[in-house]
Amino acid sequence: MNISIIGTGYVGLVTGACFAHRDNHVICVDNDEKKIDNLKKGILPIYEPGLEELVEINHKNKRLMFTIDIIEALHNSDICFIAVGTPMDEDGSADLKYVLSVAKTIGQNMKKHMYIVDKSTVPVGTADMVRKVIQDELNKRKSDISFEVISNPEFLKEGTAIEDFMKPDRVVVGTDNEASKEVMRNLYAPFIKNDGDFITMDIRSAEMTKYAANAMLATKISFINEIANICEVVGADVNKVRRGIGSDKRIGYSFINPGCGYGGSCFPKDVKALIKTSKENKYIPNILEAVEKVNNAQKYVLVKKVLKRFGHDLKGRIFAVWGLAFKPGTDDIREASSITIISELINRGAKIRAYDPKANSNAKNYFLKDKENIEFVNSKYTALWESDALILITEWKEFQSPDFEEISKRLKGKIIFDGRNIYDHMIIKDCGFEYFQIGVAE
Ligand code: UDX
Repeated sequence: MNISIIGTGYVGLVTGACFAHRDNHVICVDNDEKKIDNLKKGILPIYEPGLEELVEINHKNKRLMFTIDIIEALHNSDICFIAVGTPMDEDGSADLKYVLSVAKTIGQNMKKHMYIVDKSTVPVGTADMVRKVIQDELNKRKSDISFEVISNPEFLKEGTAIEDFMKPDRVVVGTDNEASKEVMRNLYAPFIKNDGDFITMDIRSAEMTKYAANAMLATKISFINEIANICEVVGADVNKVRRGIGSDKRIGYSFINPGCGYGGSCFPKDVKALIKTSKENKYIPNILEAVEKVNNAQKYVLVKKVLKRFGHDLKGRIFAVWGLAFKPGTDDIREASSITIISELINRGAKIRAYDPKANSNAKNYFLKDKENIEFVNSKYTALWESDALILITEWKEFQSPDFEEISKRLKGKIIFDGRNIYDHMIIKDCGFEYFQIGVAE
């Protein structure tokens, strides 16, 4: 099929590369000329395992093209995916200006019947707005070209996005139009294992599904973090409690890892947007408000532990930080707990020596104003020199079984604050460390 994808951010690029890899002709469009020039040279705007190779092969085979010319892309495609950003407005709602401006351009320029697919995460009702904007433009042109608007939310996780796309748990398609269902079914056929994994529904339910999925996952995390906090005050160990509850199949082990809060470009934004939408519709979403509140507080839990151990004045203290990305496998630091934790420590006079396998450069840009107080180093052990303690924020694989002798040789204080509970309590204590985790009574 001939596909155009508007927006070569994370979602657009992964979607484009994967469709191209399954023999479609894909034109990826962006209005950022530099980004498009770089993509033509094989330079990607983001780090995502496997993406660079996929882009390279398919660009070479001419199945994946890049352009800033949206009109040309529309004229050469039958399906157009809208995958532009929906940043968070100051009031927490999703800002639809990019989505609607693309819709307007489509309405002004389409020459034949097209399927328009909303891929960006957009509030319930957006597809209707997109349809109206396109129709209004066609009316202005006195054109009777027909088109369909479809909702097809993405469920890609950063770090495993290619795999998530190639072998999805499910594909959700929102449309009431039979032809649209068929087109989408054919398009996704190479990716779907079982027929039942291709789920069709009305557009509003599809739009809502994306928010409900992310809200559910965020709820699981805030729930276990709250349990962790209760464990600490009642003298229990959340690691054991997690095993105890996860073994119940109805609960399961996934997404109940306690930590220093969820981050990233999706959960914080989508939970906020769903709260906003609910309130606009005169419903108070009590659970979601609590999920957000618990998560905001959770980002301070490690800071509180550091202050309890070292006092509130951290002048003269140096802390080694392992992990800056909001989770392993990505260079993304958006809404990462590391930002809150590092800022709080610096504000109290501490200096930071930080290391992340992929996110050093993004974090360096973020902390430009603090560059006197934070140094970014190239290896996990270098970060430890002269440091009073190690603070682990992101559970990258390379942090999982480090050489504890090496750590104790380099650290000034044999103290570890573990924001993801990745070490074995007994091993660490045997090595003579003071060890602080989330949700374990001290
Ligand atoms: C998420 C959704 O999983 C994905 O389906 C959607 O399309 C986009 O948002 P992503 O933002 O890439 O994906 O991250 P995810 O792997 O879901 O993790 C989000 C955050 O939750 C991370 O900060 C992670 O550290 C945290 N987390 C996750 C926990 O704290 N505990 C857990 O048990 C799981």
